[in-house]
Amino acid sequence: MLQNRRILLIISGGIAGYKSLELIRRLRERGAAVRCIMTAAAKQFITPLSVASLSEDKVYDDLWSLTDESEMGHIRLSREADLVVVAPASADLIARMSAGLADDLATTALLASDKPVLVAPAMNVVMWAHPATQANLALLEKRGVRRIGPGCGELACGETGSGRMAEPLEIVAAIERVLSGDPRLSGRRALVTSGPTREPIDPVRYISNHSSGKQGHAIAAALAALGADTVLVSGPTQELAPAGVQLVPVETAAQMLAACEAAFPVDIAVMAAAVADWRVESAPGHKLKKNGTPPVLRLAENPDILSRIAQRGNDRPSLVVGFAAETEDVVGNARRKLRRKHCDWILANDVSPGSGTFGGDCNTIHLVDAKGVEDWPLMTKEAVAARLAERIAASLAPQPARHP
Ligand code: CTP
Repeated sequence: MLQNRRILLIISGGIAGYKSLELIRRLRERGAAVRCIMTAAAKQFITPLSVASLSEDKVYDDLWSLTDESEMGHIRLSREADLVVVAPASADLIARMSAGLADDLATTALLASDKPVLVAPAMNVVMWAHPATQANLALLEKRGVRRIGPGCGELACGETGSGRMAEPLEIVAAIERVLSGDPRLSGRRALVTSGPTREPIDPVRYISNHSSGKQGHAIAAALAALGADTVLVSGPTQELAPAGVQLVPVETAAQMLAACEAAFPVDIAVMAAAVADWRVESAPGHKLKKNGTPPVLRLAENPDILSRIAQRGNDRPSLVVGFAAETEDVVGNARRKLRRKHCDWILANDVSPGSGTFGGDCNTIHLVDAKGVEDWPLMTKEAVAARLAERIAASLAPQPARHP
């Protein structure tokens, strides 16, 4: 399927550069033409000779090369490709891309490109988690740049966490998805909830929780990437709306339920929000003032949105997926939750302090359904989302779409 597809591979500086050599091989053996640009930093890690030999083409690295410009200007270099892949994408190159710089051949080709761009970030865990890197990537994603990885695990720098470049075959799969415009969920409508809810105590105070919305937003993005018409109902988060997803911002559980009901009919419902279980029964319309006696808050239980959706009549979605955030007996509690809430799948995860799940980048999932349990390895929330979307696509495939 990559036969005769033209990939412009931009290699920036990083120890993961050795995996780019493997990536070139995997792309070439699938019949793709690979033309490479190397940054100055990339040449500190792998040699242009290796890149040229594997790609069977010359390597472009100089914005000011008279010969290159007369034979193949930097504009043609990016325009003649079907897809631009940046692997590894270093923190520095990501920053320069997001700022729209054109200070070397790599950034100039990226700025001049009108083709889809896929980045495979690779960097140290602290550089990855830095707000500057996260903000830069969020901006790029908002502009439509696709991303694969990074994965979790041991990094070349000796530290452990997020930042490891996706494996070459994962990048090949992502390239195939971008180029084919993966249509497996097209014609399907998906509803995803994400983030926390905020339950007012008075006009200035509220009850809430630590949910970041990362997992729910990633699921909405993954479903949309497979072609689903996706509505994301989310409580307040720092996350940007994923490209191609309709975001409905809400605050309280009651608003979240109303927004979900308004999104019907849907084929797929994934309830990833950390809905506050209780609200203040009658929150005053004015700010509570200190008067020497602390107020007593009387709480009322919020509606269970997952249960309600899973027990709808004629228009129940074909697949209703819930999450179970547990701190003990993770799978046992998930099984009980599956039955109690009448959903089809529960993705159970351990959120005890120290697991790093709440607010973190990674998640360890146990998929529980009526037949049993499937244990997934530690994965980034993005990888969890991609795997879930694949599973959903596979489970819905035999049925005709209800909402073409
Ligand atoms: N959920 C929901 N509406 C609620 C509470 C939870 O839709 N009012 C959904 C969540 O989005 C999640 C699932 O139910 O998909 C389980 O949430 P969780 O907080 O783990 O369960 P609880 O219902 O709070 O159950 P427990 O108190 O037993 O943990």
